[in-house]
Amino acid sequence: MIRLAIALLLMTTAALAEDLKPTKDAGPYVPSPQSVVSDMLRFANVTEKDFLIDLGSGDGRIVRTAATVFGARGFGVEIKENLVKEANEAAKKEGIADRVKFIKADLFKTDISQATIVTMYLLPDTVNLLKDKFLTELKPGTRIVSHDYPLNGWLPDDWRQMDLEEKVKISGVTTTLIYLYVVPVNVAGKWHAKMPPAISRQPGELTLKQQQVTRISGTLRVDGKELALEDPKLRGDKLTFRLPGHKGEFSGTVKDRAIEGMLDGKTPWSATLGG
Ligand SMILES: C[S@@+](CC[C@H](N)C(=O)[O-])C[C@H]1O[C@@H](n2cnc3c(N)ncnc32)[C@H](O)[C@@H]1O
Repeated sequence: MIRLAIALLLMTTAALAEDLKPTKDAGPYVPSPQSVVSDMLRFANVTEKDFLIDLGSGDGRIVRTAATVFGARGFGVEIKENLVKEANEAAKKEGIADRVKFIKADLFKTDISQATIVTMYLLPDTVNLLKDKFLTELKPGTRIVSHDYPLNGWLPDDWRQMDLEEKVKISGVTTTLIYLYVVPVNVAGKWHAKMPPAISRQPGELTLKQQQVTRISGTLRVDGKELALEDPKLRGDKLTFRLPGHKGEFSGTVKDRAIEGMLDGKTPWSATLGG
């Protein structure tokens, strides 16, 4: 009986020490060079207010650097038992275990809604499989930083390319890319607009279209005229545009079914989503 209990205990311990079998292997363990980690974090503008989640966290270097250098909190999700252990031990030694942790889990099944920043260095097809998850789980304004591989069809809010000798042994070339995306709100639709009197005293109709998730276009119909929005931009929940023949920039914050905005930071305008 005792022997059986010991055998069962050994089997359970062995099972716990095993790597997880994920729904999909998102790539082998290849750590981002530390200089790329620093660039990714600076690019995302990490602060102590941020909660960073690294998908496929390896030895935890991205989350650990975010915590030690920028004071952020967060977690890393990783399938390899030894890497999860190594990352948690390193965090303990660095005195940041109260702010970061590493969990053995499948990144496809992990709830990432707490993130203000998501980072990843994963295979290109995996990065693209995550797009729906990002739109469903992440709050508008959350930054996504991807090392080397873009989200196809999403216009990056920013990107950077550099040459690094140490990347030759990883990808065969020195080229290194970092992509930054800011999760946008959904603004597509027809909005009843109340523009500043200088534009019109009559209610207008603002039509916004959202191509490629982060790229928008639109028109404003006022006083029987249709004006195409100039240079419309959407970054998270912040919308900006200009109107032809009118001076100044319109800015606005989209919340639920309303936009509250200012023309040149002085004159208010607003819009509500039509039925
Ligand atoms: C290229 S490494 C990146 C490590 C780290 N993020 C960095 O940039 O240094 C990718 C990591 O993802 C892990 N991984 C692969 N598929 C995964 C999955 N489905 N769930 C969680 N982790 C996964 C691998 O074990 C590997 O450690």
